Amino acid sequence: MKILITGGAGFIGSNLAAYLLGKKHQVVVLDNLRFGYLENLTNRNNLNLQFIQMDVRDRKIEKVIKNVDIIFHFAGMNSLPACQSDPLETFSVNVIGTANVLEIARKCSIRRVIFSSSSAVYENEKSFPLTEDMQVNPTLAYSLSKKSAEEICHAYQELYKMDIVIFRFFNVYGPHMDFRRPNPPFISYILTCLLRDRVPVLHSDGNQSRDMIYIDDVLQVCEIAITNTNAKNQTFNVGSGKASSINEIYKQVAAYLGKEKIKPIFRKPSLLWDTYPNLFKGKFPLQKNFVEDEVHRYTLASIKKAKKLLHWDPRVSLTQGLKRITEFAVQNY
Ligand SMILES: NC(=O)c1ccc[n+]([C@@H]2O[C@H](COP(=O)([O-])OP(=O)(O)OC[C@H]3O[C@@H](n4cnc5c(N)ncnc54)[C@H](O)[C@@H]3O)[C@@H](O)[C@H]2O)c1
Repeated sequence: MKILITGGAGFIGSNLAAYLLGKKHQVVVLDNLRFGYLENLTNRNNLNLQFIQMDVRDRKIEKVIKNVDIIFHFAGMNSLPACQSDPLETFSVNVIGTANVLEIARKCSIRRVIFSSSSAVYENEKSFPLTEDMQVNPTLAYSLSKKSAEEICHAYQELYKMDIVIFRFFNVYGPHMDFRRPNPPFISYILTCLLRDRVPVLHSDGNQSRDMIYIDDVLQVCEIAITNTNAKNQTFNVGSGKASSINEIYKQVAAYLGKEKIKPIFRKPSLLWDTYPNLFKGKFPLQKNFVEDEVHRYTLASIKKAKKLLHWDPRVSLTQGLKRITEFAVQNY
């Protein structure tokens, strides 16, 4: 099959590209390289891989889309503070970009679009585990942009009977996770610090926990979603169904690297986004309680739906996943 991955030079997309090439699919990666890297495309010489540098908001993506069977729409802005400090760009890429992909997919009669939403849509939920049927009501720019994009997907499902699968990814980790951006994902950040013998600066007391899922399990469910008829027009949580604490993760990574002596510094949770000072300036600063809530946010996915309908079951334990990402970081960071 010929499969387009928007955002395919980023973390999840580049892993998916390599995985699908291994399964003998033809893969087209479309990315504007704003947050992704060409070196993430480790199979650049594979004749079944095509890379196109383009923005998902560009109407000319029709030239690319008209030649494919399936689309994984993964392009997006996803750093929470970066999104919060530039809502215009966030809504433009995450919402209008999605509208552009869906409208062109409609015109080109694309068999199925698989959209990467996020567990962030559950931002204000207080009962756990989180289930797909909850009425979500997020407020932060990133979370709201994903909810809005999901709503556009629902409109296209209803109005045009298109086949659109929504995946709400929880915290995905693995090789190619970005460690270079100003606010890198937590695991990339601690790996980078420990490999350079720097003391990581963390927030609160480290007992806060989130649902972490290793990339290989995400690739499995993506592959299932290409053809599985039960996936049609469904929304699925993609998490491990287990919550792991910052302390637990830190301890394991430090032990793998033999750096147990480096102890993190814990700061007040309200300082989490202090590298984005514009958010806190003027008469209407971002309220600190939202920042603190973000630090303490607990996530735990119910994955019953994906297990039942897709027969998908995550297999990589936190211990195995952390070992793999640590080995990758030692060789590549
Ligand atoms: N990684 C996670 O834990 C996680 C969790 C929930 C949801 N998601 C979602 O999954 C998707 C992939 O995430 P990721 O971790 O691989 O992120 P990533 O930042 O590594 O990859 C996103 C890619 O999209 C590209 N991109 C951004 N704007 C673009 C535009 N306008 N046109 C074309 N390309 C553009 C970037 O250059 C980048 O390569 C994102 O939509 C993200 O919101 C990720």
